Amino acid sequence: MIKNDLFLKALKGETVERPPVWMMRQAGRYLPDFMKLKEKYDFFTRCRTPELATEITVMPINQIGPDAAILFSDILVIPQAMNIEVEMKPGLGPWLPNPVRTTQDVQKVIVPDVHETLGYVMDAIKMTKKELNDEVPLIGFAGSPWTILCYAVQGQGSKNFDIAKKFCFTNPAAAHTLLQKITDTTIAYLKAKVAAGVDAVQIFDSWGGMLSPTDYQIFSWYYIQQIIDALKEETHVIAFGKGCWFALDTMAKSGASALGVDWTCSPLHARYLSGGKITLQGNFDPSRLYSPPAEIKKMVHQMIDEFGKDRYIVNLGHGILPDIPVENARAFVDAVKEYKPR
Ligand code: CP3
Repeated sequence: MIKNDLFLKALKGETVERPPVWMMRQAGRYLPDFMKLKEKYDFFTRCRTPELATEITVMPINQIGPDAAILFSDILVIPQAMNIEVEMKPGLGPWLPNPVRTTQDVQKVIVPDVHETLGYVMDAIKMTKKELNDEVPLIGFAGSPWTILCYAVQGQGSKNFDIAKKFCFTNPAAAHTLLQKITDTTIAYLKAKVAAGVDAVQIFDSWGGMLSPTDYQIFSWYYIQQIIDALKEETHVIAFGKGCWFALDTMAKSGASALGVDWTCSPLHARYLSGGKITLQGNFDPSRLYSPPAEIKKMVHQMIDEFGKDRYIVNLGHGILPDIPVENARAFVDAVKEYKPR
């Protein structure tokens, strides 16, 4: 039994004394101890070494105090396991030297045995679960197939993922073959994560909002729904689509336990679009953590009032920014713990 079960209660839609809180990218560069480890080990070494992944995952739990931990890893370990080379370049971010651009390239992409290629993630989960000692739940995650395709085809981050979109719209057959391969790998991967001990999984569709509502259904949601169908009996699934407010009605009918929303959609609007019953997660503007702690607290209390304390998980609308002062991140979490329903 997990001692702090607020997060799991919110996922089940149960009444809580206050909503749970965690932050996307909470195990990251705004923490001085993380930066010390970053000096010594490169990014994928940190992901592949269970001792390091465990240490980084637990850091924010001890230093900031959120109600859930998220495993330190990256969505790009999936393309790596599928035979697509991925590097993390300092200052640039993800860099894929041989992007997938043709039908032949797609044929070379494999659906791997995830226990073999990604066994280090399962080892990290088992070690982290021990270290957490059932204090808080552990979240596992994967990128959405569309978001993974964006990197696999574009070869790096982008403002508009123009090359990825061109590939989908000029060679849809190859795009769908690639998306299905990523989906099959992701399902096996998330099932292995659940077997290794994670208490919930989140699907990050960070670039879903790049698509029109119609193309979103065809190139992104169709595959996310397959993942939810395959996982929903085994665990709680949270679907987060950045910029995907237009799809909240579809997402609410998917069998997901919760939906993530970004800060461009008001709490009232998000509740309305998602039908008012499903648990929502979000949606503080990550840049608002630059405000003084007193102002952060006031805004967090207002956000909880607007979402309502039940069927709600307090989070940012996207990942925490690297230069946020630690005390401001702590003010965000403390504000939730100090919340009193009005
Ligand atoms: O939330 C957590 O604390 C868990 C760890 C986590 C990381 N990446 C660690 C990381 C999670 C959940 C991710 C997901 C991820 N990775 C996403 C989806 C969420 C989102 O932010 O949209 C995406 C798109 C990626 C791909 C990725 N990884 C990018 C674009 C970058 C470089 C840009 C950046 O923010 O630095 C990364 C690197 C990365 N992944 C870092 C961390 C802590 C920073 C680099 C480093 O520490 O060396």
